[in-house]
Amino acid sequence: MEFVFSSLTYLLLLVLTAVLLFLIRDELKTKQVENNVDRLIDAPAPKSWPILGHLYLMARYKVPYRVFDEIMADLGSVFRLDLGSVPCVVINGLQNIREVLMIKGDHFDSRPTFRRFEQLFKGDKKNSLAFCDWSQLQKTRRELLRAHTFPNATSNMYVRLDKCLKTELAELMDTIGALADTGCVDLKNLLLHSCANTFLSYFCSTRFSNTYDRFREFVRNFDEVFYEVNQGSAGDFLPSLTPFYSWHFKKIRTWSSKIRNFMETEIFNKRKVAWVPGTKPVDFVDNLLEAVMQPDRDDGFDLDIGLFSLEDIIGGHSAITNFIVKTLGFLVDRPDIQRCIQEEADAVVRASGTCVGLADRPLMPYTEAVVFESLRLIASPIVPHLANQDTSVNGVRIPKGTTVFLNNYSLHMSPELWENPEHFSPERFINAEGRLYKPDYFIPFSGGKRSCMGYKLVQLISFCTIGTLLNKYTLMPVEDVSYAVPKGNLALPYVTFPFRLRPRKK
Ligand code: HEM
Repeated sequence: MEFVFSSLTYLLLLVLTAVLLFLIRDELKTKQVENNVDRLIDAPAPKSWPILGHLYLMARYKVPYRVFDEIMADLGSVFRLDLGSVPCVVINGLQNIREVLMIKGDHFDSRPTFRRFEQLFKGDKKNSLAFCDWSQLQKTRRELLRAHTFPNATSNMYVRLDKCLKTELAELMDTIGALADTGCVDLKNLLLHSCANTFLSYFCSTRFSNTYDRFREFVRNFDEVFYEVNQGSAGDFLPSLTPFYSWHFKKIRTWSSKIRNFMETEIFNKRKVAWVPGTKPVDFVDNLLEAVMQPDRDDGFDLDIGLFSLEDIIGGHSAITNFIVKTLGFLVDRPDIQRCIQEEADAVVRASGTCVGLADRPLMPYTEAVVFESLRLIASPIVPHLANQDTSVNGVRIPKGTTVFLNNYSLHMSPELWENPEHFSPERFINAEGRLYKPDYFIPFSGGKRSCMGYKLVQLISFCTIGTLLNKYTLMPVEDVSYAVPKGNLALPYVTFPFRLRPRKK
């Protein structure tokens, strides 16, 4: 019988060859890494002290990461630091950071264990979205959240977010309107509640009155938690100090259990009772209930984990509020920048006859550039990775179990990459055609499989809030208040600088 290759056979052969080549390439890559291990050099390290290791170096500057520049100048782009008893490496430069995040993403997808942070998650880091190691469970959580945290501009979720934002911002503008004449507004407090309600209405289809005491306590607890996780602590690196932290750990557990109590009694339990299997999901709580109720799950995703994920994501409102308040702090003595935002906002509001919305982003590149510039200045390597196997970066040996700091602070403050890097200058993100420009060495949200899950919400919500606020008001400093906004970190204390808000004449 004559054997004729059909086009299907050709296709199958092609696919098989491609798979074979892929497998060979992978095998060769692994062999290469194995062979190279012997030729690797150990990471150089500065002089260390007994017990403290290099911890003493971190106290030298107001922004602790500045010391990394000094060490890098002496020892090169990959160096070791022993922080107390924790072996760490600091990775500098875009190429090396890319090697960690992209090329060897699988070698570095774990997180170090910090007992302080475990207090927030019933003593188990697996319950946390940001502090867990990589696993099938983490993959499930990220996939479940994707449609909600990265809403596509053409999706229903995008429209939903726009609606939630406009509703909450309209209420915020009314509240500020009633206070603006007092000359001193605690904007962080107002923004926290507004942003919490945006998150709650978007993810959970519910919201609460600003005068409801339990809601106010819920919002405050989240902000305390956010401030806590953004602070370094010697106890994280010196386990022998743990007994001295027992009171502090208790405080952290109290915040966390109060948040859980509110979440369950005010939001989740009612939704669980009302949930009808098979109905079309409307918000993240629906997706979560659907996932949790699925029988025979083998990835460990259960009700408790689901609730932790929900809390983690709702807590993002505090990150965004702190970021917005910091940005407003950068703008308070820059009427020139405020005027540029106002010109953009006035134009879109005049054209639409309504208010600033997500659809206006392409028409307001300067406002977006302001968000980028603020992100550049607050970026920090606060969320470290962990090497889960013996590996290397740029030919330097990284033993399994090493904590890895990706130094995006220096990347964003390098005078070689940025002109006058200490200066707040949104223009650096605008290209010659007047469009928003994002250099590839600008990575405030990191990259790869552990990249920030909230980056899109940060950009969308900050843009809309700043555009709306400056469309209605001009920010002015309150007399005798310092607006020295700390760089290289994101969190502000719960009580922070107030603002004067002058209503704009239209
Ligand atoms: C200005 C605000 C923010 C900045 C600068 C920021 C930055 C970052 C960075 C640098 C990381 C570490 C990525 C890595 O390990 O390589 C991270 C992780 C993460 N962020 Fe954000 N973030 C912000 C806001 C948010 C918000 C609002 C949310 C939630 C709505 C969020 C959720 C997360 C989560 C869940 C992770 C851990 C992801 C994982 O480990 O798989 N972030 N963020």
